[in-house]
Amino acid sequence: MTPGDTPAGSYVLGTEPEEQERLRLQHELWRPAATAAWERAGLGPGQRVLDLGAGPGFCALDLARIVGPGGQVLALERSGAYVAAARAAAAQAGFHQLEVRAVDLGGPAAPAPLGNSAPGIGTGGFDLAWCRWLAMFLPRLEPLLDLVATSLRPGGVLVAHEYVHWNTFGLHPDGAAIARFRDAAIASFRGAGGDPDVNRRLPSLLAARDFGIEELLPLPVLGRGGDPWARWLERFVTLYGNELIRQGLWSAEEAAAAAAAMARARLDPGAYWVGPTVLALRARRGQHP
Ligand SMILES: C[S@@+](CC[C@H](N)C(=O)[O-])C[C@H]1O[C@@H](n2cnc3c(N)ncnc32)[C@H](O)[C@@H]1O
Repeated sequence: MTPGDTPAGSYVLGTEPEEQERLRLQHELWRPAATAAWERAGLGPGQRVLDLGAGPGFCALDLARIVGPGGQVLALERSGAYVAAARAAAAQAGFHQLEVRAVDLGGPAAPAPLGNSAPGIGTGGFDLAWCRWLAMFLPRLEPLLDLVATSLRPGGVLVAHEYVHWNTFGLHPDGAAIARFRDAAIASFRGAGGDPDVNRRLPSLLAARDFGIEELLPLPVLGRGGDPWARWLERFVTLYGNELIRQGLWSAEEAAAAAAAMARARLDPGAYWVGPTVLALRARRGQHP
């Protein structure tokens, strides 16, 4: 918990330095998929971009670099700690085109705190909206969908990388302890009001709002032998395991069994991890004003 996070509105994965570092390493791994998706969406210099649930700003910085000084990136994030980290990173990079605002994107009045001083919000000024691992945490998707639908220009594009099948998370063949972790993690996401498989629903919800669904691309993950993907998943089990124990959804004994299974897997050339499956979604706002 940080000063910027109220207990009622805290983010289930936390904002401690360890989680920030986990997000940084995670971004290193997932950056190629993100930049390829932005390129397919036509992102380029001079464009205006919304980064929804921006975390400490790793994507926002990349986006700001791509749109350049003639473009604009507006990063929206609820956690005070992450807003401060993203602002500091933008200042350090000298990116005046990147603005970071503290906003709860799940609340009933999500756009309101943005006021009139964020040109384009609610008035169709943005070319692209980017959302990665945010929608899965929102108890209600309407505020986010309203914000996207009213902030993109007609013909503007939403790119969302959210999970579609969290249940694929597993370690094989010795995966009983990790399967219990997976079930506890899913229960905790749902218990906090989220939906880990939110990208099963987003395409239909967007189509109903006159968005054209241009791309639905699953992004499977396989890790083995302590490679970066395996380390990403191991790290998540270790860090989030502590939170699951705190929530009473997992136990120290189960954590020890998972640690032992992960150690055995590192030594087994035939062992491998499968990550929770992301679905890359690209949806284009209809041309009606
Ligand atoms: C897994 S992180 C992903 C961060 C970033 N999008 C990325 O891909 O690196 C989820 C982020 O969503 C933010 N978040 C969760 N609920 C939110 C809400 N209701 N409004 C705004 N941000 C929220 C969290 O604070 C956190 O920074």
